[in-house]
Amino acid sequence: MEVIILPSSKEVGALAADAIEDLVRSKPTAVLGLATGSSPLPIYDELARRHDEAGLSFTQVHGFALDEYVGLPAGHFESYREVIRREFTNRVDVAAENVHGPDGTAADILGACHAYEEAIKAAGGVDLQILGVGTNGHIGFNEPGSSLASRTRIKTLAEQTRQDNSRFFDSIDQVPHHVVTQGLGTIMDARHVVLVAVGAGKAQAIRDFVEGPVSAACPASVLQFHPHVTIVIDEAAATRLAGADSYRHAFGNKPAWQGL
Ligand code: GLP
Repeated sequence: MEVIILPSSKEVGALAADAIEDLVRSKPTAVLGLATGSSPLPIYDELARRHDEAGLSFTQVHGFALDEYVGLPAGHFESYREVIRREFTNRVDVAAENVHGPDGTAADILGACHAYEEAIKAAGGVDLQILGVGTNGHIGFNEPGSSLASRTRIKTLAEQTRQDNSRFFDSIDQVPHHVVTQGLGTIMDARHVVLVAVGAGKAQAIRDFVEGPVSAACPASVLQFHPHVTIVIDEAAATRLAGADSYRHAFGNKPAWQGL
């Protein structure tokens, strides 16, 4: 795992956008794994800016969302499909039919989860997966206790996550209890994982999954087994990392040809 510590969320977003820009320019048919939450927003802002000002085009790109609430009506403002459209794909030139998300409204949820896995496979697999991390170490909506080999399925949210996400709703009562999420095994199939996190509230989760044991109790720790993970965080999120100085040293001395 490469850990990159930067001054603020703006630099975090710009560096993650660099990885996406490099990929899309070298492989215009790239498949992106798209995450919601606040953490990826600076990435989407930066990609939209590069689209407007530097001709970065996504016309042949496919996007697959990580997760979705179950129980919100289609088109609900906070449904992740809508968030992804609003925050990213509608601001660039991704074809609407190339943007996919797990279906939280399906009558046959199990069938829809299976179909989602098949759709990712049919598109050639995810080239670059954007991730945030929950304060309890979840990625996607894989809460503590999730199988490290899990695939797309329905999950029950931890109360901590409902509490954390209640800021997007009028009250916590409106936050659904159930979600559909790509599994940890699904996420691990992505060729490159770029996880972004900012702020002191994420410092313990970062410490736990980067330097703690690999355990279902901290789902993001499964990334220690992934061959190509880039963790981009700000100073505040890095405060509990025992190895912060060595991560800074390694990045500061990285040969430019290596890229991200
Ligand atoms: C949600 C999403 C995750 C996200 C997490 C952290 O639970 N399902 O994909 O990483 O929140 O969100 P934020 O970036 O807003 O802290």
